[in-house]
This record gives sequence, structure tokens and C-alpha cells, in this order.
Amino acid sequence: MDSSDLMQKISSLCKRRGFIFPGSEIYGGLANTWDYGPLGTEIKKNLERAWWKFFVQDRLDMVGLDAAILMNPKVWEASGHVANFNDAQVDCKQCKSRYRADHLIEDALSNVKVEGLSPVDLTKLIQENKLKCPKCGAQNFTEARVFNLLFQTSIGSLEEAASTVYLRGELAQGMFVNFKTIQESMRKKLPFGIAQVGKCFRNEITPGNFIFRTLEFDLMEFEYFIHPETWEDQFEYWLNQMHKWAEFIGLKQGKTRIREHTKDELSHYSKRTVDIEFETPFGWKELYGLAYRTDFDLKNHIEKSGEDLQYFDPVTNQKFIPHVIEPTFGLNRTLLMLLLSSYDEDETESAKGEKETRVVMRFPKHLAPYKVAVLPLSNKLNEKAEEVWKQISPHFVTDFDVTGSIGKRYRRQDEIGTPYCVTVDFDTLKDQQVTIRDRDQMTQERVDIEELRKVLVGKFN
Ligand code: GAP
Repeated sequence: MDSSDLMQKISSLCKRRGFIFPGSEIYGGLANTWDYGPLGTEIKKNLERAWWKFFVQDRLDMVGLDAAILMNPKVWEASGHVANFNDAQVDCKQCKSRYRADHLIEDALSNVKVEGLSPVDLTKLIQENKLKCPKCGAQNFTEARVFNLLFQTSIGSLEEAASTVYLRGELAQGMFVNFKTIQESMRKKLPFGIAQVGKCFRNEITPGNFIFRTLEFDLMEFEYFIHPETWEDQFEYWLNQMHKWAEFIGLKQGKTRIREHTKDELSHYSKRTVDIEFETPFGWKELYGLAYRTDFDLKNHIEKSGEDLQYFDPVTNQKFIPHVIEPTFGLNRTLLMLLLSSYDEDETESAKGEKETRVVMRFPKHLAPYKVAVLPLSNKLNEKAEEVWKQISPHFVTDFDVTGSIGKRYRRQDEIGTPYCVTVDFDTLKDQQVTIRDRDQMTQERVDIEELRKVLVGKFN
């Protein structure tokens, strides 16, 4: 399959089948916002639940948090985000398109390094290399200007003294400001982690690429508090766990790689960062990040808040500021890479014996939006099929589909990645049996309705 078509095929399948739609579309949309439809919501929740179980519930050294999105603005001053969370933008003077200066240069000049360059240097590079606007072809850009990625809003009406607050740009600060309270209330000893899943907001300029880079997105991340001497071992350990997670959710083998950040590129808080990248149709792109944040955040919060956030080690009687390893996972990017990994086309024969292309989303079974679909062969069988649905739906998220020919319904369920279809036919009324059809093998198996639940449980184990 031509990889350049793949994004188009996936975004149109997502819209057609109720996964993901452009945000506020009836008003012409709002660039870089997306709404998750019924199936997109299911699969996103499945990913989130799987992540929470994998990294939090199945471990004794991890606890959860759900901090407020709005925080005291002093948090973002102390964290360095107000001063340092910046990108440089340029506008095409002719067609008014806006670009991130580093992305514009990297896309045009693959051998040029832009990390750490000032706006003046970025402007020079654009001018010296006579870069053209990708949209209209003009060679007429504004100078690069730095802007802050934090979204601002204000508390209180205009009549009152409005105070500026920020929508959180990352989850991490919630974990840092609550570190001491959580450590004491949960009686946690180092090393331990605090995890959170939630929305973050960044005033991004983006080139599109569907849900890859958006203004609001869901993050899953944790801060793992350690003794500073152990940071290198901890870093390797968590990198390994991140690989295990990628394998667990079925990301395509050979499509991920590690990229070490150069010194110039490191975030203001990091001493070492690696990205786990994924090979998308639009190049190798960051999927996840792993950073050694040292004691940067806790130290700054101690200094700016005046609170003692140090850890007392009862074994050594030492008091010190813990260091932090931070694995971070974009949920929307995980979903995008899962869609890219799962999309497949194969050839089948229609009922009339003609060759057809079948689109099938080969989601890992545990992540599929519907696990099972019940399909009555005729409307006259709906009542019996509803009985079957009632029997299995408390145990599996189960669709009930009565529209169109059975062939069309199988194709629809393949396109949304349903692992098993259960067909109710006229023989069912006589022999109390149904047919289970397997999405991947396309095999069909006749089973007693009484045994159906047990047989399906076996297939998911
Ligand atoms: N607390 C660290 C942190 O936020 P980051 O590399 O800026 O690190 C973490 O972001 C992850 O969030 C990225 O690896 C990526 O998966 C995701 N991400 C970042 N910006 C995004 C955006 N604008 N849209 C969608 N996902 C984004």
C-alpha cells in the first residue's frame, strides 16, 4: 500500500465509521481540534484504562492523581514554562499562512540542524536558503518571532479584577506540587511514582497531520521520584518498560526507534531525554518521551513557595530533594500510531464470486472498540438475536447490527476492527446454535448459545 495514501484512508475511515471528526465542523471547523465519536471514545478509553492498569494498578510503587487543570499561575512561573515554553513562528506575507520556523526549515533542508537557534538565526537561515511558502510558493516571510505555548484565560468577569491563569501545558506540575502531600498520606518510600491522565493545552502552530499535533490533547505521564545516585539505572529500566508497553498495545514491529536529544535541544528542565519515535507516512515522529528532570522542579517549587518538599529517608536519616525520571505518553498519538499499525487491506471474494478489497482494522483484541457484534441474518430473527446480545453484552462490549446484507455488515465490522461476529440464522431457532466468525482468520465456527460466553472468553485469553 502506498504510504502517502494511508493518512487519507485512515482519516476518511475515522470519519465514515464514527471514530474521529473535525471539531465544530458545522461552523467550518476550528483548525487542529478534533472530536472523538462513539468508536473513537471507546478505543481511547480502552487505551487509557490499559495504560493505567499497566503502569499504576499492577504496581506497588505507583499511585494516581487527578489534579485541577487550572493552577495558581505561580506554578508555571516556578516551573519555567512562562519564560521558556516557547516556539518561533513565521508568517507568509503573501498568503498569511503561519509556520513554526524550525519545522519550515527542517522540512525544506533535511541536513540543517535548527535546535537551539535564536529567532535571528532562524530568520537568516530562511532568507539565505530562499525558502518558499509550502502553500503559495512565495519567498516572502516575516522575521521569526518567539511566542509562548501556554494558553491564557482569566478568572472573574471583566468588571472584577480579572486574574490571568494558564491552561496546563503538561501534567507534571500537578505531581510536583502534590508530591509531599501524596508521599506522606500514602506513606510512600522512594522510589515511587505519581501518575496522571488528562487534558493538556498548547497554543501550537501545526501543519495538520490529523490528530498528531493539536491544540488540546490527552497525556498519560508519571513522575518517578528517586535517589539521585540511581538515575542511570532507573532511566534504562523505564525505557525498557516503555518498549514493553508499545509491544503490549500492538504497535507495528520495526516502526519504532529511539532518538537521543542533543544538548541544544533538551527542554529547560532536562539533563537527558530520549524520544521513542514512530515511522509515520509523514516521517519519523515523536510518539513518547523519557526525561531525567533531575531535582529541577521540586527545587524551584521549594524556592518559590517556601514549602519544604524534601524527602526524609528513614533508613539513612538523610533529608534530600528527590530526583525525577519522567516517562510521558501522548494518548492521541498512541491512538494515531495504533490506527496506522492496524490498518490493513486484503482481497476476498464477494457472495457473487467477484474479487473485492477488504479493509480491516487489525486492532489487538483487547483494545478494539467492540469486542463482538451480533448479526441476525433476517429481521425475523431480531428477537432471538436480542436474546443472544443480552447474554453476552454484560461481559463484552457488543454491537447489534441489523442494516444491510450480511456481507456488508461483515465488511463494516472489519473496518471498525470487531474481532468476532456472532451470526444468528434460521437454523438457530431449531438447533440453538450460532456462528462465530473470526475477523483475522475469516473462519466460521458453530457453537451452542449456552456455550457462547465461555467460548468467547477463551478467545480473549
Ligand atoms: N511533561 C513532559 C511533556 O509534556 P512533551 O514531550 O512536551 O513532554 C509529551 O509532551 C508527549 O505529549 C509527547 O511525547 C507527545 O506524545 C504528546 N504531545 C505533545 N504535544 C502534543 C500536541 N500538540 N498534540 C498531541 N500530542 C502532543
